[in-house]
Amino acid sequence: MTAPYETYLHMLVDLHRLLGPTRYLEIGVNEGHSLACAGSDTRLVGVDPAPLVGSLDHPDWSVVEATSEAFFREWDVVDLLGGPVDLAFVDGLHHFEVALADVLSIEHYAHPGTVVLVHDALPIDKPTSERDRVSVVWSGDVWKAVVLLRRHRPDLTVTTLDVAPTGMAVITGFGGSTDESWVRPAVEDLMDADYADLVAMGVDRSLGVRPGTPEVLAGLLPVGSP
Ligand SMILES: C[S@@+](CC[C@H](N)C(=O)[O-])C[C@H]1O[C@@H](n2cnc3c(N)ncnc32)[C@H](O)[C@@H]1O
Repeated sequence: MTAPYETYLHMLVDLHRLLGPTRYLEIGVNEGHSLACAGSDTRLVGVDPAPLVGSLDHPDWSVVEATSEAFFREWDVVDLLGGPVDLAFVDGLHHFEVALADVLSIEHYAHPGTVVLVHDALPIDKPTSERDRVSVVWSGDVWKAVVLLRRHRPDLTVTTLDVAPTGMAVITGFGGSTDESWVRPAVEDLMDADYADLVAMGVDRSLGVRPGTPEVLAGLLPVGSP
């Protein structure tokens, strides 16, 4: 067994190296630390209503100043990226219904080899996983998006890697169902759940937790990935 990635950014660098995506979409760029993990041959599009990234040592990047909801409503992703999404990273608003909507919006631009990552999938404790931020490290209740995708989208492979500080879900298997009729009642059902409910359901089973190692990550990538 190889050693776990030190942080989610180390994992992201390695995933870019392994996958070599042509087109990368990032929801929530902040200062650009995760955008900076991409290789120079990848076209990068970021989305953030209040981006703090000023410059980036990369030949092909842009940031759309918008919430993800407005972005998917008003912009043509294929136009911006020059084709479908190969790799996406969801790290915007840390409310599960928003993270879930981001994944399902990205799915419209996905292909069978697409990989979608969701940050903050593995909460640490109750205070850091509240919907209202009360701590420096804040995963919000993004974990519920992972529970719902695992529960309602058995056609997708949804696995949570235990990488610091708050886990990363890796989603593959796109190209099947795009029925979203389950979303509204499922979101209502989990809206009031909290960390204690996750513990009661079983963290590892509900989130599909695996060690955050290069070995496990490589095994999750779509067949045909380099
Ligand atoms: C945790 S930071 C992103 C960090 C960055 N991905 C990294 O790893 O360095 C979250 C970002 O999401 C942005 N954000 C907040 N609400 C959003 C929304 N509705 N849609 C997209 N981004 C949002 C915030 O402005 C913030 O910059």
